[in-house]
Amino acid sequence: MNSNQNRVNLSPVAQIAWTDPAPADLCGRVISALESGDVIFFPDLRFETTPREQRVFSPSIVGSSKNVSFDPASRKIACEAASEEDRGCLSEMLGRFNSQAAALVNSLLPAYRGRVTQGRASFRPVEIAGRKSSWRKDDTRLHVDAFPSNPVQGRRILRVFTNVNLEGRPRTWRVGERFAELAARFASSLRAPFPGITAALRLFHLTKSRRSAYDAMMLQLHDRMKSDDAYQSASPQTTVDFPAGATWMAFTDQVTHAAMAGQYQLEQTFLLPVAAMEDEQKSPLRTLERVKGRPLV
Ligand code: SIN
Ligand code: FE
Repeated sequence: MNSNQNRVNLSPVAQIAWTDPAPADLCGRVISALESGDVIFFPDLRFETTPREQRVFSPSIVGSSKNVSFDPASRKIACEAASEEDRGCLSEMLGRFNSQAAALVNSLLPAYRGRVTQGRASFRPVEIAGRKSSWRKDDTRLHVDAFPSNPVQGRRILRVFTNVNLEGRPRTWRVGERFAELAARFASSLRAPFPGITAALRLFHLTKSRRSAYDAMMLQLHDRMKSDDAYQSASPQTTVDFPAGATWMAFTDQVTHAAMAGQYQLEQTFLLPVAAMEDEQKSPLRTLERVKGRPLV
């Protein structure tokens, strides 16, 4: 991987385990790379699945959805199509992945302890290459993550991914330019919503909390990127293969990414207030506020 200042880099961390305590110098290196917008890549951190769990390794398990989602708080699996027994398998596998991903974050990012909260986990058994979707939902287009119905009000989206493909196939991503370049490129076209819109979204329960100016602008940024064909093909970018048996972690609200190919992945989402960062000036919130010259939450 070439190290390019203007592009997202992979920062490799070899030979660690999910739950072992990590040495302080490693933690320091990881937090600074992560907050700078690198992908932290664990080439040999494998998530083991049991033969019983492997029964649910089929794209048909999701019905008409993209993935199976798991709420760590209620231990509930959202998957209408699955049988009782399959739901049991999914819940066991995602519950164990949730604990291991949380242990990894806890040991590698001690500065975030007590501040980071858990969101949902997901199992993604559908092949990405050739999957049909609208341009807005098409994750093969470069984008940063933003949640339409779950406003984050500036909080960071930290995600841990692991490739559990049983045939040894990689998950292929493209990663693009750094967030500062991205913000400079698109910020002039990002607008705060009219106050009436924010209130209506709450009133009709289309958002679970208030959609801040930051949330509205991140959604617009997501859409501007995905709908711009020239940006998709000509912006600085690198293709990355994450091998089966590998794990990686990134702030996906900051790292421009697109998932191009691959099947069978687990993902755990965490949320982090910007005030808990080592350097909150590196966050998308503070970056957009600098470009716009005003507070956005
Ligand atoms: C995405 O967040 O865009 C998709 C990542 C993946 O499923 O590999
Ligand atoms: Fe994404």
